[in-house]
Amino acid sequence: MSQAKQTILVTGGAGYIGTHAVLALLNAGYEVVVLDNLVYGHRELVENVLKVELVVGDTSDRALLDNLFATRNIAAVMHFAAYIAVGESVTNPAIYYRNNVNGTLTLLEAMVAANINKFVFSSTCAIYGMPQEVPMTEHHPQNPLSPYATSKWMVEKILADFDFAYGLKSVAFRYFNASGANPDGLLGEDHNPETHLIPLVLQTALGKREAISILGTDYDTPDGTCLRDYIHVSDLADAHVLGLKYLLEGGKSDVFNLGNGNGFSVREVINAAQTVTGREIKAIECDRRPGDAPILVGSSDKAKKILGWCPQYADLSKIVADAWQWHQQRHG
Ligand SMILES: NC(=O)c1ccc[n+]([C@@H]2O[C@H](COP(=O)([O-])OP(=O)(O)OC[C@H]3O[C@@H](n4cnc5c(N)ncnc54)[C@H](O)[C@@H]3O)[C@@H](O)[C@H]2O)c1
Repeated sequence: MSQAKQTILVTGGAGYIGTHAVLALLNAGYEVVVLDNLVYGHRELVENVLKVELVVGDTSDRALLDNLFATRNIAAVMHFAAYIAVGESVTNPAIYYRNNVNGTLTLLEAMVAANINKFVFSSTCAIYGMPQEVPMTEHHPQNPLSPYATSKWMVEKILADFDFAYGLKSVAFRYFNASGANPDGLLGEDHNPETHLIPLVLQTALGKREAISILGTDYDTPDGTCLRDYIHVSDLADAHVLGLKYLLEGGKSDVFNLGNGNGFSVREVINAAQTVTGREIKAIECDRRPGDAPILVGSSDKAKKILGWCPQYADLSKIVADAWQWHQQRHG
């Protein structure tokens, strides 16, 4: 006799990482309901590509959540819904605390009321602040430097308290730079406004931008530009399925870095993009941006050891090639 499929609620499932996680969940045999307010999400990816139920609504809508939990047999929640622009969080912190903290608190309270106690959360390496050592492990001191990072840090604290008080078990994943796109070309990154390096470089290759700005060329790094840890979004998605299984099998609450373990410089990314696209990409050298760390690289040994995570796409040219396939088809 075959077992009934478990249903997972994916908030922010119409966004970049959420859509990839939905695909990984479907491939792993789960049923999925997406909750997204579509402020930044893409309806057509959920309805036409992933073909799962989309509930258009907000994580701060308690009545909607109560109804969802009462009418669907939800086994766990994967929570991607948040605002993500670091710069905007500095100029408009109120909307970041309201959406990322209040919205999550409402969701967690509704879960507790409905007796749903498994939660997978999108946190960020930005909670560490300036690196004191690299690669950064989960034990690195925490010093969030923006309201965005603080909002994620606050949710991690709330999760610890909710476990203690209500027995809500969570896995918080601290991502480094999510990048790339589904290798089959079905899904990819489409933020508006876009702030991430690889899509900006590829938009330049497509002629949508004049040039890419290199923010600082005098860092103490091999080529003078900043090094970042780019993690393929499909590897991230796989880690979420493993984190979910870990919780469903009775795992305790925990936090895990998700990164590539290798740092790639801004110049290396531009060079990789020139090779992959076969196009010249104009770069302009600018001053440093205040607050940027020279090197941000994470250790994901803990996720590999405890969750059995085995990332497949650590190679920068593969990450850029998958992103390029998506960008050409979406915006070419
Ligand atoms: N992209 C990265 O490199 C990165 C790095 C670290 C952490 N994260 C975290 O990963 C998560 C997903 O990031 P992304 O790049 O896919 O962003 P995204 O903007 O593409 O996706 C977020 C989705 O959440 C939806 N949303 C936002 N607030 C909502 C709310 N209150 N109710 C319902 N839906 C809401 C948006 O419409 C969007 O579809 C975020 O929590 C982000 O903070 C991303």
